[in-house]
Amino acid sequence: MYEGICFRVFLSLLSLWVVDADPCSGALTISPARVVVEYGDFVEVNCTTSIIHDIMGWEATVGSTPGTDKQLIAWRVYRLSEWDVKPICYVTLDNGDQCTENLDVIVYKDLEYVPTMSVNHTGPMIEGQKYQLQCAIRDVAPVRYLNVTWYRGDDMIPPGPDPLLNSSYPSSPSNVTFSLWISPSRQDDGAQFWCAAELSLGEGGPQPPPPRMASQNVSITVHYGPEIISCPGSIYVSEGENLENFCIAKGNPWPIVTWHRNGVLVDPSHPLSRQDSDNYTVTASGLAESVQLTTVYVMYGPEFHCPSNLTVEEYRTYNLSCSAEGYPKPEVQWFKEGEEIDLSETLFRADQGKYHILANSSHGNASHWLDVRVLYPPSSIVELEDVEVDVLGSDVALKCSSSGDPRPQYRWSYFRDENVRVNTEDGVSLLHINGVTKLNIGTYNCCALNRLGQECKAVRVTVRGVQASCHIQFSSAGKTVEELVVEYGKNVSINCNARGHKMIKWTISPSHKFTGDTWTEKALTDWNVKPVCRATFEGHDPCEKLLDVTLFKSPKDLSISFQNHSGPVVKNKNYTLLCEIQDVAPVENLVVTWYKKGLNDSLRMETFQNTIMTPQNVFSTIIINATKAENGAQYWCEAKLEVGEQAPKPVKSKPFDVTVYYAPAITLPNVSVVPVFRDYQEVLVCEAEGNPKPDITWSFNNRSSKGGNLTISTEMVGEITCRATNEGGTTTKTVQLVFKEDYLPLIAGFVAIVVVIISAIFVFIYSIYYTNTKMGHYSLKDAKPNPQNGDVAQNGLDSNLPVKKLSQQNIYVLGAMP
Ligand SMILES: *[C@@H]1O[C@H](CO)[C@@H](O)[C@H](O)[C@H]1NC(C)=O
Ligand SMILES: *[C@@H]1O[C@H](CO)[C@@H](O)[C@H](O)[C@H]1NC(C)=O
Ligand SMILES: *[C@@H]1O[C@H](CO)[C@@H](O)[C@H](O)[C@H]1NC(C)=O
Ligand SMILES: *[C@@H]1O[C@H](CO)[C@@H](O)[C@H](O)[C@H]1NC(C)=O
Ligand SMILES: *[C@@H]1O[C@H](CO)[C@@H](O)[C@H](O)[C@H]1NC(C)=O
Ligand SMILES: *[C@@H]1O[C@H](CO)[C@@H](O)[C@H](O)[C@H]1NC(C)=O
Ligand SMILES: *[C@@H]1O[C@H](CO)[C@@H](O)[C@H](O)[C@H]1NC(C)=O
Ligand SMILES: *[C@@H]1O[C@H](CO)[C@@H](O)[C@H](O)[C@H]1NC(C)=O
Ligand SMILES: *[C@@H]1O[C@H](CO)[C@@H](O)[C@H](O)[C@H]1NC(C)=O
Ligand SMILES: *[C@@H]1O[C@H](CO)[C@@H](O)[C@H](O)[C@H]1NC(C)=O
Ligand SMILES: *[C@@H]1O[C@H](CO)[C@@H](O)[C@H](O)[C@H]1NC(C)=O
Ligand SMILES: *[C@@H]1O[C@H](CO)[C@@H](O)[C@H](O)[C@H]1NC(C)=O
Repeated sequence: MYEGICFRVFLSLLSLWVVDADPCSGALTISPARVVVEYGDFVEVNCTTSIIHDIMGWEATVGSTPGTDKQLIAWRVYRLSEWDVKPICYVTLDNGDQCTENLDVIVYKDLEYVPTMSVNHTGPMIEGQKYQLQCAIRDVAPVRYLNVTWYRGDDMIPPGPDPLLNSSYPSSPSNVTFSLWISPSRQDDGAQFWCAAELSLGEGGPQPPPPRMASQNVSITVHYGPEIISCPGSIYVSEGENLENFCIAKGNPWPIVTWHRNGVLVDPSHPLSRQDSDNYTVTASGLAESVQLTTVYVMYGPEFHCPSNLTVEEYRTYNLSCSAEGYPKPEVQWFKEGEEIDLSETLFRADQGKYHILANSSHGNASHWLDVRVLYPPSSIVELEDVEVDVLGSDVALKCSSSGDPRPQYRWSYFRDENVRVNTEDGVSLLHINGVTKLNIGTYNCCALNRLGQECKAVRVTVRGVQASCHIQFSSAGKTVEELVVEYGKNVSINCNARGHKMIKWTISPSHKFTGDTWTEKALTDWNVKPVCRATFEGHDPCEKLLDVTLFKSPKDLSISFQNHSGPVVKNKNYTLLCEIQDVAPVENLVVTWYKKGLNDSLRMETFQNTIMTPQNVFSTIIINATKAENGAQYWCEAKLEVGEQAPKPVKSKPFDVTVYYAPAITLPNVSVVPVFRDYQEVLVCEAEGNPKPDITWSFNNRSSKGGNLTISTEMVGEITCRATNEGGTTTKTVQLVFKEDYLPLIAGFVAIVVVIISAIFVFIYSIYYTNTKMGHYSLKDAKPNPQNGDVAQNGLDSNLPVKKLSQQNIYVLGAMP
């Protein structure tokens, strides 16, 4: 139902169109409707009509026909030599109306010349920037049927948005330039671009179609970068390696890479040492400058900075600087006797021994042995026991031994009689009584001492049945004393106590005897005093006891000097340093200690085995090895009387300064050959280090010059000698002065000549070029005439290109330039 209505509507519309239709429609038929003719060729096209007409004919600039009443009429030109023909076939109807039909005639001219490829740019291209490639095609028609294709090497560059030709191009042969915008990348460096042109005349075109023409190749240079690669912010290298494989720069032109550390140029091929860990600046200079910062970490295996031995005092904090250095930081383990341990802050005697320290890192491992010595005061005295012998006249031996570090010294206090002898050997002190007498009966006190302390023990020597009941005790100021230690010339007051005594009698010396409890002396000055107290009792035997007196005298002063030498010492010799102690008693109790400034420990401790009780002069020595380091060292000695609680203050010597004279060492010049140039004043410096400051003399040609600075000139060529002298000796250094021609002026002259030649060439070329342009033409090296001189240049954007004459100097781009 609906379809029926629609159909009827359509029919009525159609009849309406038919009624109003152009009467010319279909009146004329041109066959073929489009002709492609090469310029100068024959062309024939028929125009037919089927309607009744008055006259019919062709109207054209060439080949017009007069009007006829025929049904077919041909437009015929034997040599078509017009570019712009637009023939029209017409028919005039009886009513005077006219119908026309246009014939499309394409007159073409084959490509005759090879297209010319060029770049409108001088010099290398820069990556990413835009450049225009031009393809100039000469003398072709019609331009709008030109099909230009672009190539990079063998690959066709896909056409961009259709480069529609400007239809206002004349149909006659023209010179035309097509453009291609490129934005080259580094891969395009050295690439060859070319263009090809052909006439694509379409339907009715000649068979075979006109040949295609390809341009020459244009190769382009693309500059880019520099781009720094393989350059992380942190670089880890092993010691001995270098930085050559890091921070490499890519670019065209090839970039120059420089490394700087704190502004100082460094050579990346130089092997690195651990000190070279730092921040570096890498600069690549090529097309532009690129800078990158990197931190270099030089890795190396662990290394110990540790002494080979350590001496500490028991219970005291100590100072051990023992570290394993390395990068990455090593892990450190301590072992003693195969067991891993931690070294505690304070050490005990049991901690002494050999420690094995291991350091491990990913970069290696190291081990170190440390010998630890723990100093401790003498231990309790062992093996010393009371002794009782059966009869008078027996021999008695007492053994006093203690351990300690340093090895203890022993000091006995007892009644000194001629039959008693002390022998200290191998850390043990033996006291022998050769045939015990009544006088030997009594207390024997042994003290073991070192500089950390002392330990004492008292034992009794008795004889069975002899004076067992005699109990005499001495006291002073209410305190019991076993011995009397008193400074020479001081007062003494000693009580002799014996329970239940009848009478007490003192015998101080053969000429000094008295009865009474107390022995008093204003000033004790008798070195041989042997006070004996005798007590008598009711009912039993009297008994007597000798008071052991130690009279001491502190040394007045200590003198320190070299033995058999005075003044500065000479390097590499041994010298004996002497500490003289005068007027000291008892020598047996004297301890002389040596010190050196800057050392915590004493150098040496000396005791004397002399049993003479009266004041003596003694000395102690140490040997000094005179080295350079010893220059300025300071020594002193100290004397101390080990006499128990009453001991006087130690006496110190004046500090003794050591001056070491050492022969000069020449530090400059450090070369053996020195060049001299004509007309150049140069100063050659000789420097030497020594004590005292050396005198420096230059000698040459039997002449000499004092002082280290010598102005050298060509007359001195030959050997010259620097002589440095001081009290320590003489050192010489000979250098060879060699004559060197100075090439600088020669080079300067050469450069000047080259500049002049280049300038001349330039002026010559310019003048030729100038004349040519004035004459209105110029020739190219490639001898390809430029086809597009002053003509319309075209691309999709229809830009006219100015002609650049100077661009012919372009040496980077092959081929001619517009
Ligand atoms: C035009 O018509 C004539 C006569 O019919 C014929 O001989 C000729 O081949 C035709 N030409 C073309 C181009 O069709
Ligand atoms: C290249 O062509 C563009 C546009 O056609 C122009 O602006 C530019 O100046 C030309 N450059 C050179 C070096 O000729
Ligand atoms: C132009 O030439 C190219 C290469 O010969 C071809 O592929 C393309 O079809 C041509 N275009 C026209 C419109 O003929
Ligand atoms: C240009 O180079 C391409 C490939 O590099 C080559 O196929 C072509 O023949 C070359 N053209 C000329 C004229 O040398
Ligand atoms: C065609 O080129 C002419 C100059 O050669 C210019 O004036 C005109 O605007 C261009 N036409 C188009 C459509 O680009
Ligand atoms: C290297 O630079 C960083 C900061 O960029 C700084 O923290 C560091 O201390 C520097 N290292 C050295 C050895 O100068
Ligand atoms: C302790 O080490 C120092 C240097 O480290 C050395 O001079 C000295 O002889 C060593 N002493 C012992 C007992 O090994
Ligand atoms: C430890 O030794 C260092 C250098 O050897 C010193 O500077 C420091 O004062 C010492 N410390 C102690 C507590 O002795
Ligand atoms: C220096 O004394 C040492 C012993 O302490 C000895 O071995 C050495 O030979 C002496 N050197 C000289 C130069 O006397
Ligand atoms: C003293 O020092 C010199 C040089 O260092 C050395 O050759 C010599 O053996 C040393 N002598 C002693 C006793 O240390
Ligand atoms: C030697 O020359 C140096 C500089 O080269 C100067 O510092 C020095 O004072 C000069 N010494 C004498 C003794 O002239
Ligand atoms: C095309 O260029 C050539 C050479 O530059 C010139 O001889 C010729 O007359 C030009 N043709 C046209 C149509 O301008």
